[in-house]
Parts: sequence; C-alpha cells; structure tokens
Amino acid sequence: MIKTLREEADKNNIFIGAAVNTNLLDKDRDYTNLLKTEFNMVVPENAMKWHTLRPEKDVFDFVQADKLVSFAEENKMAVRGHTLVWGATMPDWFNKLSPGEMNKSLEEHINKVVGRYKGKIYAWDVVNEAFDDSGEYADSHLIKSVGPKYTEKSFRLAKKADPTARLFWNEWGADRINKRSDKFYKIVKTALLKNVPIEGVGFQMHTGLGWPKTTTPLPDIDSVRENFERFAKLGLEIHITEMDPQIEEAEGSFEEKLKKEARFYGDIMSMVLQIPQFKALLQWGVNDKYSWVSTWLTHKDDAPLMFDKDNKPKLAYYAVKKALGNNIKLHI
Ligand code: G3I
Repeated sequence: MIKTLREEADKNNIFIGAAVNTNLLDKDRDYTNLLKTEFNMVVPENAMKWHTLRPEKDVFDFVQADKLVSFAEENKMAVRGHTLVWGATMPDWFNKLSPGEMNKSLEEHINKVVGRYKGKIYAWDVVNEAFDDSGEYADSHLIKSVGPKYTEKSFRLAKKADPTARLFWNEWGADRINKRSDKFYKIVKTALLKNVPIEGVGFQMHTGLGWPKTTTPLPDIDSVRENFERFAKLGLEIHITEMDPQIEEAEGSFEEKLKKEARFYGDIMSMVLQIPQFKALLQWGVNDKYSWVSTWLTHKDDAPLMFDKDNKPKLAYYAVKKALGNNIKLHI
C-alpha cells in the first residue's frame, strides 16, 4: 500500500509540517485535503503574529488562530505556535510605546495568547529572528527600547502561561556554522545556565539553490550537521521550521532544478534523522502556488515546496519519503 508522508512521519516518530494560510482553509478544498492527508503538524503562516492578533493596542482578534487550532484538533495534528516576539514586525502602535509600556504590553500579550491555547500547542516560537547576519542583535524599536533582556523575560512568561508547550527560539540564516549561529549558540548556552526555559531551537532553512545569485546560499550539509549537533548537545529539541529552497535562479532546466531541490530535501531529511533530538521538519507553505517566495518575493516561477501549484507531489516529496524509509525507486 502506498503510504502518505504523514504515515511515514508517524512511523519515524517525527512531525512533518506546513505553514498554513488560514484564509484558504475550507475555501480551497484541494489545499485543505492535501494538508490533512500529508502532514501531521501545522504552523500558522501569519495568524498568530502581532499584525493579525493585535491590529490595535486594545484589540485582540483570535478568529484566524482559533480556526487553525480547531482544524488541527479535528485532524489530530500538532501545532507550532508562531510567533510571540519578533522585533522586526511589531505593529506601529507597539513601536511608539515607551520601554515601560512595551514591557507591559509584551507581558499582556504572552499571558493572553499562550494562556488561550494552553495545552493545545506542541511548541511555541517564543523569540523569532533576534539576530542579523553579522551576529549582532537585529535592529528594532524593541531592541533599542528594552534591549536583549526581552528574550529571557518572554521565555519565563510563556512557561508560566503554559508549562506544557515546548518553548523555542527560531532563527533565520543560522542553520549552518556562521556568525549568526555562533552568536545564537553562545546566547542560548548562557541563557540555559541561568535556567531560562528554552527547550528547543528552530532553524528556518530559507535557502536558495541559485547561489551566488540569490542572497541565501544553499548550506553545506556537514556544516548544518555540526551546527545542529552542538545545539543538540545542550539538550535542546531541534526543528527545521520554514524550509523552502528557492530554485528559480539555479542553473539548468526546470527538470534539473527540481532534481537538485529533491536531493537537497532528501539529504537534509536523511541527515536530521541521525540526530536523536530532531523532531520536526516544516516547509513554509503548503504548495508552490501560495508560497511567500512566489507571492511576496518577485519569484513568480519559483517552486520551493514539496507540492506544485496544482497540489501534485514533486520529486522533493518522494525524496523525503524515501529518506523516511519508504521503499520507493527514485532517480535524482
Ligand atoms: O493581509 C494583508 C492584506 O489585507 C493587505 O492588503 C496586504 C498589503 O500589504 O498585506 C496583507 O498582509 C501581509 C501578510 O503577509 C499576509 O499576506 C503583510 O503585509 C505581509 O508583511 C505578510 O508577510 C509575511 C511575513 O512573514 C511578515 O509577517 C509572509 O506572508 C510570511 O510568509 C512571512 O513568514 C516569515 C516567518 O514568519 C518568519 N521567518 C521568515 C518568513 C518569510 O519571510
């Protein structure tokens, strides 16, 4: 019998997930069916961010987030909550607050949001993208006003609001050994010595197969392994949270690009399965049609996910299934 990706993931005791555009749930039946058939974990692409939940200072809007959590419950899927604090995308009203008011607002936000979904979220991205490529804290009103201590405070608040959710720090561009991951490692290690409740690290894995043309080079797998292993040695759970290799600028025909993409997905999956603390791999979107790469970046012909614009499985899908132990013949 042909097994789905979800069944292969269950067999390996890991999660395979996708970032969901909640506006499409139910409206696009194929998208929704694909999601519940092939994945056992979901993460909201935007529904749990401040710009959705907090359009104004005193307004909380949980409609979209509730919809996804109910969908996951109905379909027995795990949920990653994304994200509680991301300096670069705080709403304008937040950025105008005084440091004291920012602290108060963060506290109110974490208590209310984490509290609402208590017991229903497998893992929260408590802190998102705190660093820049040079290994410094990324510039934001939050970092200028409150400073790096917002990170520790947010983890402690989240733990109090839901002791059962695993608390993650999720980073862009830190999947391999580089200045960003070195800083990430140093900060997390120090925080753990102070008993800050960080329980996992998320590596986003937004990369490009077309390097050096793109700004997000494909990582060297050995460097990713070495990096993941140093975090795993700290006792942390490891997730790949937002995988979506851009292929538009890669060399070769479209077919060749799809093969390269599939090799990358397969190699990453095989590698992480060797790391006992690895628990989840999520792609950033459900299919190529609605990927942020195709819609927000100007990559109209890009195809970064495991399913194409018509929800058909691509070579990358089969490569991941094969890495999970599926007895499939694949020439890539
Ligand atoms: O919904 C409004 C719409 O009403 C309005 O007309 C339109 C005009 O700009 O904006 C729409 O909201 C946009 C939203 O996506 C929903 O489509 C926001 O402007 C836009 O900023 C937002 O972009 C999201 C981005 O994060 C910033 O939050 C992308 O969809 C989302 O894919 C992207 O995801 C991030 C992860 O959270 C963190 N890591 C990187 C990753 C990719 O950038």
